[in-house]
Amino acid sequence: MIIQKSTQPRIGSFDPESYSFGDHFIDHMIVCEYQDGKWGEVKLMPYGPLSFSPANMAFNYGQACFEGMKAYKDKDGEVYLFRPEKNFERINKSAARLAMPEIPKEVFIDGLKALVDVDRAWIPYGEGKSLYIRPLIFATEEALKARVSHKYMFAIVASPAKSYYTAPVSVKISDYYSRAASGGVGFAKAAGNYAASFYPTKLANQEGYEQVIWTDDTTHENFEESGTMNVFVRIGDTIYTPKTSEKILDGVTRDSFINLAKRRGIEVVIGDVKVKDVVDAYRNETLKEVWGVGTAVVTSVFEAIGYKDEKLILPKLEFEDSYALTLQRDLVAIQTNQAEDPFGWRV
Ligand code: COI
Repeated sequence: MIIQKSTQPRIGSFDPESYSFGDHFIDHMIVCEYQDGKWGEVKLMPYGPLSFSPANMAFNYGQACFEGMKAYKDKDGEVYLFRPEKNFERINKSAARLAMPEIPKEVFIDGLKALVDVDRAWIPYGEGKSLYIRPLIFATEEALKARVSHKYMFAIVASPAKSYYTAPVSVKISDYYSRAASGGVGFAKAAGNYAASFYPTKLANQEGYEQVIWTDDTTHENFEESGTMNVFVRIGDTIYTPKTSEKILDGVTRDSFINLAKRRGIEVVIGDVKVKDVVDAYRNETLKEVWGVGTAVVTSVFEAIGYKDEKLILPKLEFEDSYALTLQRDLVAIQTNQAEDPFGWRV
């Protein structure tokens, strides 16, 4: 690994009281370039802009994918990653689907550990605080023929993240737009999936909803995801979540929630989550909770769901009665070394 430390660290001027998600970056970043059919040496270097022509293929044809993960600091200042191998496996699934070269495990894991280690001082300690880490791969060839790029960059940047607590949000069930199609790239963390979600989300915002509950592209009868997250529904005392597929992201937080729910003896049904069943449960008052999960926020609790022209108002549960919040607490306790880790998730 080539190591080039920053001579002008910014940590001293970082105000831990005034930042929001993803707008401040730690002093260093990882880059690794791919050309002539192979990945080069990993480089740890000062964080900063890189220069690319507007003819860069990533800008024109969208060969770009990313990951989202976090590092946590415990009360003794020890630092933990959470299930980093899952992110390593997933970035390569995304890369393969976008016809990009997969990265070797040592490039991903060693780069990640070196970056987190050099900038440990940037990892905030405290409730809900963490370092949000963004590994990404993108095309870098300067060429306009619509074909795969012959050059790529793998990079990791990171940004201190604040409390996971977010106020409950209202979400709109999509009856027209979708984020994924059969045979498409929905399972991949492709940059373009996010670009394509912004316009329908803007329309939902104009109707007073923060996010969209994505439904399948052919019938719009089945829940798929919500916003940038996987979705969970609780009817009675059973949790339902859509099965991962080529249209649904295999979320690390989703998988962790499923395991934690089962550990608590909660029944989890993984399969089709029908819009009709959720609306019927609302009408017969057995719909208790609907929430999204993802690395960035951990849990986003929904207070209302827009269904056609109706707004379904969900019950307000006390913390201890909420599966969403108690499972979130279980998860964060493991991530931050405040609880035993029977699953071996902490690294
Ligand atoms: C996540 O929470 O895992 C996300 O993907 C959100 C990110 C796009 C900000």
